[in-house]
Amino acid sequence: MTTGNADYRDAGLAFPDDFLFGSATAAYQIEGAVHEDGRGPSIWDTFSHTPGKIWNDDNGDRACDHYHRLESDLDLMVELGLEAYRFSIAWPRIQPTGRGPANEAGLAFYERLVDGLIARGIRPIATLYHWDLPQALEDVGGWANRATAEAFAEYARIVGARLGDRVALWTTLNEPWCSAYLGYGSGAHAPGLTDGATALAAVHHLNLAHGLAVAALRDVVTNDPGYSITLNLHVIRPSGPTGAEAARRIDGLANRVFLGPLLEGEYPADVIADTAGITDWSFVRPGDTELIRQPIDLLGVNYYSTVTVEMWDGVSPRVRADGHQDMGGTPWPGSEHVEFLLQPGPYTSMGWNIDPSGLEDLLVHLHEAYPGLPLMVTENGAAFDDVVTQEADGPVVHDLDRIDYLRRHFTAAHRAMTRGVDLRGYQVWSLLDNFEWGYGYSKRFGIVRVDYDTFERLPKDSARWYAELIRARVIPG
Ligand code: FCB
Repeated sequence: MTTGNADYRDAGLAFPDDFLFGSATAAYQIEGAVHEDGRGPSIWDTFSHTPGKIWNDDNGDRACDHYHRLESDLDLMVELGLEAYRFSIAWPRIQPTGRGPANEAGLAFYERLVDGLIARGIRPIATLYHWDLPQALEDVGGWANRATAEAFAEYARIVGARLGDRVALWTTLNEPWCSAYLGYGSGAHAPGLTDGATALAAVHHLNLAHGLAVAALRDVVTNDPGYSITLNLHVIRPSGPTGAEAARRIDGLANRVFLGPLLEGEYPADVIADTAGITDWSFVRPGDTELIRQPIDLLGVNYYSTVTVEMWDGVSPRVRADGHQDMGGTPWPGSEHVEFLLQPGPYTSMGWNIDPSGLEDLLVHLHEAYPGLPLMVTENGAAFDDVVTQEADGPVVHDLDRIDYLRRHFTAAHRAMTRGVDLRGYQVWSLLDNFEWGYGYSKRFGIVRVDYDTFERLPKDSARWYAELIRARVIPG
């Protein structure tokens, strides 16, 4: 792995004609309309309405009001020249309690979205699960319960039967790391539990859900889509003499516990050993790893920043700098004695360090480890404290820091491609400012600003910059 953070401020780099430039969102973060058309409650409704869980006690009840602004948001995508749009489908709109017959109004909404994209020449990339588990399933154990994986396959079958003649690329899960470890380990995400054994059971049932869902989709789709999963693989820099051991542990929990079963058909033995004091892994049943390892056409990569680790000596003051909110539990079961060192800056307003070399390293590493598996950046972007300025022609957001971030990461992606990586596209996070989970509306990731009082959309300078990149297929000067 290379280290360091060379400039990456290139211009003039050209992307191939079939490289898919797009942008990404997720249902709970933008839709609002949580009580409409038969949608059932999800774990994020419950969590965000629990006082003290979210910054300012914000919630997604209205979010960006996208549910009511579908047509104008689609037109906005055309204005920016997007070639793809990565969205997620809210399971509780399709099955309000996570089981049973489909809710027609829910299916109809996503059908309008997909048809609206296709009519505008934009490729639909559909994620089946971006964290909004139906609350009724959580009430019987959520992802700690194997039955949730089976229910997920049924949900995939319903959605596939309806949209499986039109969707270009299916993604089963977004960032199962977050669902499992932040949801059931650290407590920072819904459902907010803090139990290591539960988090590891959730890891397995999410992996299983992926495999079962791919198989279910294949059964019912009639076009020739791609199948994928999106992971937030951690780019880990070891520090000092104990860095290698710390990196092995975090790589195991964050990366290999997913890549292993998904792509190699087995769980890493060292992770099972490291966590033996917490769980005996009996939730993995014979045959499960075969079910999980379904052939996929593409691996989605979400990338924001890096971590640097060493083993904690048990004496020095601890620095918790893994980029995740501290809600009492740990997202690193069995490896609580790994220390996450403060990263060198610069930082985004999330406090996440900006290191485009991490993206290049990650893509090259994946390409070398899994040759022949195409990759796509399914999320990359940055939150900054945007300022709206009134100018003669109206309000503007001169978000030069976001443009700089994107330029440097597109450069990194391009460098990876030059090194042989089969990178198929890039979905910028996010099209719209939105509900940033535990941070509520305090963090703005959009290339389009959203006024949360009027729901007006205002493309920022970064959106114009991106539109120019897409138009010219060359990183603008
Ligand atoms: C990712 C999530 C996405 C968004 C970005 C900032 O972990 O998938 O929904 O919150 O981070």
